[in-house]
Amino acid sequence: MPVSRREVILGGLATAGTAALTLRADALPTLSSGTLKRYPEYQAFADSPLPFVVPGALPGNVKPTEENILGPYFREGAPYRAKATPPLAKGITLVIRGRVWGFDTKKPLVNAVLDIWQADADGRYDNDDPKRPPAKGVYVNRTRVLTDETGYYEFETIHPGPYQTGPNAWRPSHIHYLVRKAGYTNLVTQLYFKGDPLNAKDEFIKASLVVALEGVKVGGATIETGVFDVVLSAAQKK
Ligand SMILES: [Fe+2]
Repeated sequence: MPVSRREVILGGLATAGTAALTLRADALPTLSSGTLKRYPEYQAFADSPLPFVVPGALPGNVKPTEENILGPYFREGAPYRAKATPPLAKGITLVIRGRVWGFDTKKPLVNAVLDIWQADADGRYDNDDPKRPPAKGVYVNRTRVLTDETGYYEFETIHPGPYQTGPNAWRPSHIHYLVRKAGYTNLVTQLYFKGDPLNAKDEFIKASLVVALEGVKVGGATIETGVFDVVLSAAQKK
């Protein structure tokens, strides 16, 4: 009996993370529909200009992006994917995009690696409970993205929730970044959101890392978008 595409995919997912993947021997190639549909509303969003970004050159008054604490929840090895969150994760959809620049050259950096990690809508990380550590190879609310040939990156996620760090201490909503590019100093930082009432109570926040979000209507829903450019300092020569 022929195997459907869905069965092939589910068969593959069932073994993901536990063994090397092998396509079923009786699977057939995916059929081509022969036409490429355009979706105007999504295209308009994708084509919209990036504020704060001058194509081809970094404005002279822009400084290297400020560092911020790593925090206790980073995990090495997140998968490369455009969406940090699981399908249908609770929360407001958020798209962050921007470019990674070299401070020395004032030019975009191609193939820079951005590690992104954050809390879910309830302020929880996938590894914040020692009694329930995440399964090996399973990364929730984490991703890695590469910059393209223009230094551009983007990812989809949900607006992270704040979390409590002490009896009267809170961390406002934020997204963690670790940005790496050969020849440049690794940057550990975080982005915050303008207007978050908890920003004023946080001891780690820096004004230069606060991003203003914009509401965009996509497919009948309103999502949030924000632009976060990253400027890396050249590594010290030894
Ligand atoms: Fe955090």
